[in-house]
Amino acid sequence: LDELLAGGVRGRHVLVRSDLNVPLDGDVPSLKVADDGRIRASLPVIRRLAEAGARVLVMAHLGRPKGAPEPKYSLRPAYERLKELATFTVKFAEDTAGEQARALAAELADGEVLVLENVRFDPRETSKDDAEREAFAAELAALTGDNGAYVDDAFGAVHRKHASVYDIAAKLPAYQGDLVRTELEVLNRLTDVPQRPYVVVLGGSKVSDKLAVIENLMGKADYILVGGGMVFTFLAAQGHKVGASLLEEDQLDIVRGYLARAKEAGCSFVLPTDIVVAEKFAADAAFEVVPADDMESSSFGAAGLGLDIGPESQERFAQQIHSANTVFWNGPMGVFEFPAFAGGTRAVAKALTGSEGFTVVGGGDSAAAVRSLGFDDNAFGHISTGGGASLEYLEGKALPGLTALDRG
Ligand code: 3PG
Repeated sequence: LDELLAGGVRGRHVLVRSDLNVPLDGDVPSLKVADDGRIRASLPVIRRLAEAGARVLVMAHLGRPKGAPEPKYSLRPAYERLKELATFTVKFAEDTAGEQARALAAELADGEVLVLENVRFDPRETSKDDAEREAFAAELAALTGDNGAYVDDAFGAVHRKHASVYDIAAKLPAYQGDLVRTELEVLNRLTDVPQRPYVVVLGGSKVSDKLAVIENLMGKADYILVGGGMVFTFLAAQGHKVGASLLEEDQLDIVRGYLARAKEAGCSFVLPTDIVVAEKFAADAAFEVVPADDMESSSFGAAGLGLDIGPESQERFAQQIHSANTVFWNGPMGVFEFPAFAGGTRAVAKALTGSEGFTVVGGGDSAAAVRSLGFDDNAFGHISTGGGASLEYLEGKALPGLTALDRG
């Protein structure tokens, strides 16, 4: 970005890809941004460009609409929040690269910002067909007139081979945004030479989403602490009954392989020893704490659902985090949205804030979780805006949004 600014951007249209994929509260038409972390993180680059006199076009996605406009996925609430935070003029186009976007882009003044409607309202954005994506990228690029530039600042989306992330970089002079740069610097500290002991805490619901990262991290981390919905596949792989808890049967063999190979990889898995089991999936469900190796011993029997790690495990995870010099955490430990099952996530967040080591929280959901539990961003070493993106980067994968910039 420094290079682009050094060349002068006054009067030039600069198309910025931001990650404004934020959680929303409420119902259409009065949806509100529930957590503005990604908007705040996107603001500095937009501000730098606007203050330098660029005519800034911001493109982003929200949710996973099916290639057509859906009011509940409109970027309008994110735009409203951006406007509140901004010190410059911000406008909104009701379409992405259509008539209104073209007209508003053309009449934008120096230093003004136009937020385009959700790029995923066009099916070509996420199409598997290269020609379709390229055609959409060409329409987006055309919004910048004949002297445009592109800045990729959407770290959270760099793992997507989508038109606004990947193909666009071949259509315009392309630059890396500051957010992408900072995120990579931090993640490189984790992949290059992490200070030991290096503890990785993984949670969230799907083992299958995290398998590749586990494979890769087994060779790097000293301890992998597992919680969240994915832990029941680990417990089942050890031969324990998990009642009606989330279980990915098709991943059992793979997880057994991990547990068997961990030692030779120099890594230990730390699994919870107690689980909070609930009668049903509800905020007000009755619950009991049971041993992790005897989950059906609660009064709910085989119908019990594990919704959080228990107090003994919380204590153990916290101790392990305190003794670490590097901690990477992705994924909540339980159903933190229900206060009765937020204990594990809160305990891990608290341990990270008390850590003397280098702590990284990866993931839009994990970041939103810690904020919703009342923790301050500054209490952590770094809160990454990327969930899937940070995991895939740690896996060592080539990410389309980054290779596109190198190619350009
Ligand atoms: C995220 O929330 O991790 C990013 O915004 C990417 O969203 P996606 O998983 O829907 O592509």
